[in-house]
Amino acid sequence: MIFEAIRESHDLQRDLCRKLTASRGDMAARQVLFLQLKVELMAHAAAEERHLYVPLLMEDGGMDASRHALHEHHQVDELLEDLSVRNKKQDGWIATAKTLSFKVRHHLKEEESKFFHVAGRLLSDAKKKQLAGKYKREIVRMRKHYAAEFQTVAVSAATGLVKPAKPAADKPATRGNAKAGAQLRGMSKPRRTR
Ligand SMILES: [Fe+2]
Ligand SMILES: [Fe+2]
Repeated sequence: MIFEAIRESHDLQRDLCRKLTASRGDMAARQVLFLQLKVELMAHAAAEERHLYVPLLMEDGGMDASRHALHEHHQVDELLEDLSVRNKKQDGWIATAKTLSFKVRHHLKEEESKFFHVAGRLLSDAKKKQLAGKYKREIVRMRKHYAAEFQTVAVSAATGLVKPAKPAADKPATRGNAKAGAQLRGMSKPRRTR
């Protein structure tokens, strides 16, 4: 069912929010946690919008819930943008990360306790089953899409989940050289680190 599939990502988001706001000292670890969370939030929002909120938006009784959810996705996007700066050391950065964590938790709770019930009533069982398949394929595709932008995270071929990328120890000449790394991967543009 679509809601169980969505909850799997929600649990990952809660876990990553907790780890990120508790991160101290090790800035490389904070950076990787942030990118894992950023890719998960963006991939989940895309898959959920396309395969839950678009069908819900087409129902008269689902308009308020879907509009509300899309608005909150946009607010989360803006916080992710604010947090995508090189220096993640300052107090201000961690304060914004806490605001993001609060916003994400509020949103997940509202979806799980309200919006999923609205969707549960309005969509048929066959439709929910069909959407579950589409959502599951789309979130993995979008994780890969967003993770491809960054050097330090990747998507596991085995689990389809976002994980820290293996350091390119076998390619010492390209380490720390985004342009050479991009050329080696056959990409025209270097991948971003934030
Ligand atoms: Fe959502
Ligand atoms: Fe969600």
